[in-house]
Amino acid sequence: MERFAIITGDITLSDAEAIVNAANTTLLGGSGVDGAIHAAAGPELLAECRTLNGCETGRAKLTGGYRLPAKYVIHTPGPIWRGGNSGEPALLASCYRSCLELAEQHGIRTVDFPSISTGVYRYPLSQAAGVALKAIMDFLAKHDLPERVRLVCHTEETSKIYRQTWNIWYAGDKASRM
Ligand code: APR
Repeated sequence: MERFAIITGDITLSDAEAIVNAANTTLLGGSGVDGAIHAAAGPELLAECRTLNGCETGRAKLTGGYRLPAKYVIHTPGPIWRGGNSGEPALLASCYRSCLELAEQHGIRTVDFPSISTGVYRYPLSQAAGVALKAIMDFLAKHDLPERVRLVCHTEETSKIYRQTWNIWYAGDKASRM
């Protein structure tokens, strides 16, 4: 199984053991991928989220997946973009790391992420991609679980930016390893 991949698709259809939800700090649903995940998971997801008392930006909380193919949903509120000098990069990196730590703690083998904060929260896509890929690759270099992580982009355009960023940072590295 490939350790990391960037794919295009609808994360609510993912067969990963856990999918990550780009939530808000109330964890009570919203639009974007949050809205899509709640719509697909059904009302039991919101009922469980109500018991969690929200979640801080950059942290993560686990729930069941209910009617989703995924067994779990890991909810993480990403930072709202405010120009880049309010700690956004560190908070975004913390979202990815917190989700991966939670997955490892629960013995979850496969995790799919959406592109956190790059929609309603307006984090510039190419900057978010660099932060996301570094956070994921740094974690995978030091941990055996999850065995597979994917970045599930909703549009080809988003995938293209992540792939370009990947090629700049990591494809070169592979070449040097050959
Ligand atoms: N599958 C995969 N990715 C998706 C899907 C989907 N079904 N739907 C949307 N996306 C993508 C968007 O295209 C974007 O690239 O998820 C990424 C994150 O965008 P948002 O969902 O808008 O999330 P975010 O920018 O983190 O803003 C979070 O929006 O929905 C509200 O409650 C949420 O307040 C919170 C805020």
